[in-house]
Amino acid sequence: MSEHYFEFRNVFKAFDDNEVLKDVSFFVNQGETAVIMGRSGVGKSVSLKLLLGFLQPDSGQIIVAGKDVAGWTEKQFSETRRRVTMVFQSGALFDSLTVKENIAFPVETRGVAEEQEKAEQTVGELMKMLEVEQYANQLPSDLGTGTKRAVAIARALAENPDAILYDEPTTMVDPIMAAHVGDLIVKLKKQFKKTSIVVTHDTHLGRKLADRVIFLVEGRVAFFGTWQELENSQDPFLRNFLAQDELIPALDATA
Ligand SMILES: Nc1ncnc2c1ncn2[C@@H]1O[C@H](COP(=O)(O)OP(=O)(O)OP(=O)(O)O)[C@@H](O)[C@H]1O
Ligand SMILES: [Mg+2]
Repeated sequence: MSEHYFEFRNVFKAFDDNEVLKDVSFFVNQGETAVIMGRSGVGKSVSLKLLLGFLQPDSGQIIVAGKDVAGWTEKQFSETRRRVTMVFQSGALFDSLTVKENIAFPVETRGVAEEQEKAEQTVGELMKMLEVEQYANQLPSDLGTGTKRAVAIARALAENPDAILYDEPTTMVDPIMAAHVGDLIVKLKKQFKKTSIVVTHDTHLGRKLADRVIFLVEGRVAFFGTWQELENSQDPFLRNFLAQDELIPALDATA
């Protein structure tokens, strides 16, 4: 058992010659939100897939819910995937079900009688919280990308998971929608305090959410610490990254 909810210990992962993760270690405690940042192709999505067993590491240990999942079977991972839900970029909603039916789906398929009674109420509360009530009877194809993502988050919460993984929740939408989805995630963090990992390029969202930041550069952990520590880092690469988003003064002004 690990005291951490999620942990990577010296994880290596390559695809043929492409060494994606090289000795990656980090942890996320129960109830915390960690943000994974880094440039495109650095292995952020691969890291999330390793946690859920969609990919296997070449070496190292991966801890989920305090347990080492190395060598787990698909059956064991299917239990993990109920406790840890992933919000995919695409939303991965059922096209033929309405918004309300999509959100109700995990509650209904769980099939616990007393939960069935509460299902309607739960779905209503989630639609309200994610601000998608007005779309209840519409199909996903009627919705914009940002709204679909809000519905996908509501559906993930309907599973009542211990933890949520978000893969770039605020990309591919306009800035106003990105801010809206970001604010919803911040609201959920405050309300539910579920252990979360958020992969994002959005430094403004990262600052609002992160109890811990994992910054990947060329397959390695270039930084692991709090947001404040990140902003105080003297590493030129990290300073440049933050300065570009005007989170810290431009480099020449601090020289
Ligand atoms: N199933 C796979 N088979 C082969 N190569 C893969 C596979 N999945 C990912 N890769 C490679 O691993 C590297 C990391 O991919 P990953 O999707 O984790 O990047 P990322 O950090 O999420 O980038 P982005 O910000 O663009 O989403 C890339 O070079 C990618 O081509
Ligand atoms: Mg990715």
